[in-house]
Amino acid sequence: MTKPKSEGAVALPLNTIMDGDCIERMLALPAESVDLIFADPPYNLQLRGDLHRPDNSKVDAVDDHWDQFSSFEVYDRFTRDWLAAARRLLKPNGAIWVIGSYHNVFRMGAELQNQGYWILNDVVWRKSNPMPNFRGKRLTNAHETLIWASKSEGSKYTFNYEALKALNEGVQMRSDWVIPLCTGGERLKDEAGDKAHPTQKPEALLHRVLVGTTNPGDVILDPFFGTGTTGAVAKMLGREFIGIEREAAYRAAAEKRIAKIRKFDREALETSTSKRSEPRVPFGQVVERGMLRPGEELYSPRGGIAKVRADGTLIGNDVKGSIHQVGAHLEGAPSCNGWTYWHFKRDGKLVSIDLLRQQIRAEMDEGRPH
Ligand SMILES: C[S@@+](CC[C@H](N)C(=O)[O-])C[C@H]1O[C@@H](n2cnc3c(N)ncnc32)[C@H](O)[C@@H]1O
Repeated sequence: MTKPKSEGAVALPLNTIMDGDCIERMLALPAESVDLIFADPPYNLQLRGDLHRPDNSKVDAVDDHWDQFSSFEVYDRFTRDWLAAARRLLKPNGAIWVIGSYHNVFRMGAELQNQGYWILNDVVWRKSNPMPNFRGKRLTNAHETLIWASKSEGSKYTFNYEALKALNEGVQMRSDWVIPLCTGGERLKDEAGDKAHPTQKPEALLHRVLVGTTNPGDVILDPFFGTGTTGAVAKMLGREFIGIEREAAYRAAAEKRIAKIRKFDREALETSTSKRSEPRVPFGQVVERGMLRPGEELYSPRGGIAKVRADGTLIGNDVKGSIHQVGAHLEGAPSCNGWTYWHFKRDGKLVSIDLLRQQIRAEMDEGRPH
């Protein structure tokens, strides 16, 4: 799987899983070389004794040695060091996602802010199939929290707003995500048929994170790689990954898993792009270029009429203003998208003025280097 890519003097170990301690490994990688970091660190659960179900069977809790820290102080030092090493690796417009439970997420949140990261959102991953609270002494713990932060306050981080909206059937994506725990065929098993890893994350969670906040070809680093959920989804989505994982058994499980993944084809990887990233076209350009002439009439969906003026404004119902303002006035609405609201007549048929904007954009695109 090794595919080193030269980034300045030091090669980036793309699409590989590095062994060893993630702090040491990150410090050895070139600064400002990574677009996104996804980190699912130890939770520091501090379990006190075994947990049993009502039928006395033992709950398969996260009691592994990698999750043991002797005190909050030790955990905080660890958090401080790995977050600093991660920040050094991020490109100036890079970003990070961290995921945790109530045991550790607040400690990580404070440290992110202390180090100059800029928190963009926290996301509640609501588990649709959580483990019940067997003792009945507390609420069912049915969610984990993700924090999304850019490297710095002014970073121009990637946010594929339209793609996430499309993923959510045309409705703006919210910060509460209902996704089941990783179960069934997706859950990796070891040779004895037991879970290969106690905290394997669902691919659906990573799919949403990567579609929403990276682009094809971006480099994504996961310093707590586990069974490689980040790498598997990155490969499917045509992104490059770098994994770091201390435990050999998890690395082996991840290697095997990722080798079987097929990258989606190019067409499938294209996602809806942000309308905001398309060049702005003032309506005046349509008039200047003679696509519509001053004095020409525009029609609203309800039969309202306005006239085009030489300066790219409209006059209708004695109101003068932009295509948006006059449309809003006619509708009695606080706002209106004039581009989709107004139509002109050609050969007796009504045509949306947005077609003229698209024509101008297409010409601008032809002039741009590809
Ligand atoms: C919460 S799990 C991540 C699970 C992963 N997201 C998945 O879907 O499989 C944390 C992982 O970090 C690893 N780990 C803990 N401390 C580490 C360190 N200092 N360096 C590298 N890996 C570490 C553990 O072995 C464990 O597999």
